Amino acid sequence: MPSPAPTPYDAIILGAGAAGLFCAAVAGQRGRKVLLIDHADAPGKKILISGGGRCNFTNVNTQPDRYISANPHFAKSALGRYSAQDFIALVDAYGIGWHEKTLGQLFCDGSARQIVAMLLDECAKGGVQIALGQPIGDVAHAEGTYRVTYGSKTASARALVIATGGPSIPKMGATGFAYDLARQFGLKVVEPRPALVPLTLGGEETLFRSLSGVATEVIVRAGKTAFREAALFTHKGLSGPAILQISSYWRHGEPVAVNFLPDTPAGWLTTAKRSQPRATLRSALGGLLPDRLAATLAERLAGDKRLADQSDKLLAQAERLLGAWDFHPNGTEGYAKAEVTAGGISTDGLSSQTMEARKVPGLYAIGEAVDVTGWLGGYNFQWAWASGHAAGLAI
Ligand code: FDA
Repeated sequence: MPSPAPTPYDAIILGAGAAGLFCAAVAGQRGRKVLLIDHADAPGKKILISGGGRCNFTNVNTQPDRYISANPHFAKSALGRYSAQDFIALVDAYGIGWHEKTLGQLFCDGSARQIVAMLLDECAKGGVQIALGQPIGDVAHAEGTYRVTYGSKTASARALVIATGGPSIPKMGATGFAYDLARQFGLKVVEPRPALVPLTLGGEETLFRSLSGVATEVIVRAGKTAFREAALFTHKGLSGPAILQISSYWRHGEPVAVNFLPDTPAGWLTTAKRSQPRATLRSALGGLLPDRLAATLAERLAGDKRLADQSDKLLAQAERLLGAWDFHPNGTEGYAKAEVTAGGISTDGLSSQTMEARKVPGLYAIGEAVDVTGWLGGYNFQWAWASGHAAGLAI
């Protein structure tokens, strides 16, 4: 018996996460017959756990310079054509309450479930067929048609969209499948690495692990990039928003410089020596930093000596170190703890207008699978919406 002809679609989208759901909805509502396949038993699982269950769904400060990519210009077109305001308008149309938390980050008042429900409703409006719990088997391309085997079925379409994300949080079903598929079709992959991820400390810096749980606002710097936000000491090293942000820029072997006193004026320590000569460095720092952190830093710098007993030169040096304390991370907590994956399918081979592979007509890649990685704070979802929208209009 000949095998049954595959069910024909206009487009098959692999991955029912943020980018895949949105792309499917946009294409479906344009009248395209769309099949959306995922191996997970539910769609949008990362959306559900994002933003502590409230989904930081966009950032009002979205600009291309908040994204990391081998080609920093690539994201401009899609982000320009589908903006944070566009997504907010959709959220508003569904009556989903939201609030700005900090730094332009928008969260649901209620639950991330509302965003997933909205995306599913948008897919339903476009007649999108969703196949969940379906492991993807063979993907083949011949005579302008893609054929995808999933579970026990086969479907075909003239367009195929890779939207299976990156390998961050493998225990949620995240995989590097997008990269394997891209390579199968001759696309290059920029070396993937964990990003928005805690950094680990070793060697003599393990002593900072005893500060686990202590948080303070800092300016953290790697190379030319700096962020001012909270840093948190953990039992493995450093975390908190400032560290997650800088981790996307940090490279193995480089130091990360932390300014523990972003608001103190230059010369504050010598001024303190004149005004409170009997104070120690620890007590002077105690007014500015959490107590355990003040004690640890003071001990490393000057023991318990009184300020009056230390030279101005020594105090100036202590001040310099407190303003640029070099940590030497020995690694990251890896994909198990990384909020996103940096690197991915190279933008070199993709159209920035449509996300279509230049040399493989009908093949598209969107979302985190692509070498475009946003800052912490809603930027990654905005990229998922914008790139999904661009492809959704093209397929
Ligand atoms: P996404 O990972 O969402 O979807 C990929 C889909 O493909 C999944 O449904 C997966 O099951 C499926 N898939 C993978 N491999 C497959 C295979 N081999 N076969 C079939 N299906 C496969 N961003 C942000 O902007 N604001 C926030 O608040 C947060 N918060 C946050 C918290 C946590 C804990 C994490 C881990 C991440 C975030 N993020 C975030 C990042 C954000 O979740 C991420 O950038 C987007 O979900 C990326 O959307 P994609 O659709 O590209 O991939």
